[in-house]
Amino acid sequence: MKVLVATEKPFSKVAVDGIKKIVEEAGYTFAALEKYTAVSELLDAVKDADALIVRSDKVTKEVIDAAPSLKIVVRAGAGYDNLDLKACTERGIVAMNTPGQNSNAVAELAICFMIYMSRNRLTPGTGSELKGKTLGIQAYGNVGRLVASHAKGFGMNIMAFDPFVPAEAIRQDGVAVAKDLNELYSKSDFISLHIPATEQTKGSIGYALLKQMPKGGCLVNTARKEVINEEELVKVLEEREDLKYITDIAATNQALLDEKFGKRVFATPKKMGAETAEANINAGLAAANQIVKFFKEGCTKFQVNK
Ligand code: 3PG
Repeated sequence: MKVLVATEKPFSKVAVDGIKKIVEEAGYTFAALEKYTAVSELLDAVKDADALIVRSDKVTKEVIDAAPSLKIVVRAGAGYDNLDLKACTERGIVAMNTPGQNSNAVAELAICFMIYMSRNRLTPGTGSELKGKTLGIQAYGNVGRLVASHAKGFGMNIMAFDPFVPAEAIRQDGVAVAKDLNELYSKSDFISLHIPATEQTKGSIGYALLKQMPKGGCLVNTARKEVINEEELVKVLEEREDLKYITDIAATNQALLDEKFGKRVFATPKKMGAETAEANINAGLAAANQIVKFFKEGCTKFQVNK
């Protein structure tokens, strides 16, 4: 049984060593393809893989077709929009994620982003504090919950909107519940996005919501670039010279955003929300353990293509 770790953006060495240990102790063969630059390298590497661990690497139908022995794909992380679930299901391949394993790293980055923008991106000049500001959390899942908990330590007022989480569960955390997105956006100095990229959410954050933000509002995106309507983002940033946007996933039109809006926008050079040793270890080892449990016990607890 061969377990392949294919990561264009590699895990830390300690995480890779941990994955290897789990795989080999289970009696399987470990292989790694790291920092690959061409899809052809991935297609070649998967040809004899029984199990595949990836990060944001795209597991397309082409990749599935190139892997005749593949039985399980684990996205070591939360968002699995990089997996072609239909192609997996058609081939009877189990697709999983590792929910919650890298959430704290992403939540801490969201807090970092708020401070960075509040302090003029660490350039000279008078900034502002998080204390007393309102943070609106869009989607109260593993990351959203942690952002709320961390933000409380900064003395922020926190509000959340998530139609899939019972309001009572949100209130129990001392977080106010917005009745809809209009309320969330119109009352929040910061909006932190934690929605997945789905057919329903893609392009859903645009002019109508952002124009409602209070003066000096800042949109913080550690989710996915696809959820933003980029044309409408440009429009609202043009109209509202006080608004700011910071993202961990550069927009398709990031060069235009940078040119037009200068210090009001910022994108990390490469997605770094989950780039901590801790998150790499948590997610990587969880992925390896899930594969072993799947092969040994038939466990499909974290399957996302049921
Ligand atoms: C996730 O969905 O888990 C995060 O976006 C992390 O993605 P990465 O593994 O590519 O850093």
